[in-house]
Amino acid sequence: MNIGTKPRPPAGAGARRGTTRLLTAAALVTAACGYLTITPDPGRATSGAAQVSAVAGLGVRGMTPDSAQPETRQAKGGASPGALSVAVRAARATGAVEVAGAASIARVPAAIDGVTAEQARPVDCRRVKCVALTFDDGPGRYTDALLRHLADHRARATFFVVGQNVAASPGIVRRTYAAGHEIGSHTWSHPDLTKLSAVRVRSQLARTDQAIKAVIGVRPKLVRPPYGAFNAAVRHQTRRPIVMWSLDTLDWRLRDSAKVARKALKSVRPGSVILFHDIHPSTVRAMPRILRTLSKRGYRFVTVSQLYGGRPPKLVYGAQ
Ligand code: NI
Repeated sequence: MNIGTKPRPPAGAGARRGTTRLLTAAALVTAACGYLTITPDPGRATSGAAQVSAVAGLGVRGMTPDSAQPETRQAKGGASPGALSVAVRAARATGAVEVAGAASIARVPAAIDGVTAEQARPVDCRRVKCVALTFDDGPGRYTDALLRHLADHRARATFFVVGQNVAASPGIVRRTYAAGHEIGSHTWSHPDLTKLSAVRVRSQLARTDQAIKAVIGVRPKLVRPPYGAFNAAVRHQTRRPIVMWSLDTLDWRLRDSAKVARKALKSVRPGSVILFHDIHPSTVRAMPRILRTLSKRGYRFVTVSQLYGGRPPKLVYGAQ
């Protein structure tokens, strides 16, 4: 599903203050969703978490990944404590670090059939290790298998669905929501929103809202832009939180269950928002090991809204 590389941004962007942070953002944009070709740069040694940390700091300053240079696209290696502290400060500055309390949990469809008392119990992500698994681009033919894996581990997740796929497979979305998972918007047809007019961006979101509401009765509260690509113009088209991620498994590129699992398990931290794509069978096959291992490590699997106490900040990169 690769469709080529993202074009280089205008020259001069790198001369701005905060260039390092802008550079790290490029990886997020280019690595998202599996449609773009990435040229690895082994010389870099920044973890996904550290990258996101930097971008979180960038985000609260109102800049966007679109300002970034493309040469720093690789995410690997160990975490940077300095960058992580940036994330913590940024998260606190934006109110991102909040407790998942009973009030917020009550908004999640916990009372729906199939959700156990254990699952419905409020999760205090200050006291227990939480992780938000997120799945983009579906629903697809493997989503039901994924739902079974999640149910086996009493795990909740967040699905950023593509509107036209919702219209084609409403039953899967209905089952996903009924199982207690969160449904977010990933636009109608998965375009790069930064390439569209304001009217077309709004149309992408509105059509998806309608499709989702027709199936589950509520409008999605969260938006994840395809490729993680957005700018100020895109952000102005919705007041809802833009949800990125703090750990990219690169599952769309690896297409290997063992590698996907290793990548997730190696880099996960309490508060991680992990990016997966449930349209790939290798990703779904990786889930039992990921769920089993993280459960043993004491993690609870929560939705993005749960992770942020029902009030995600306007820009979400994870709560590292
Ligand atoms: Ni996507």
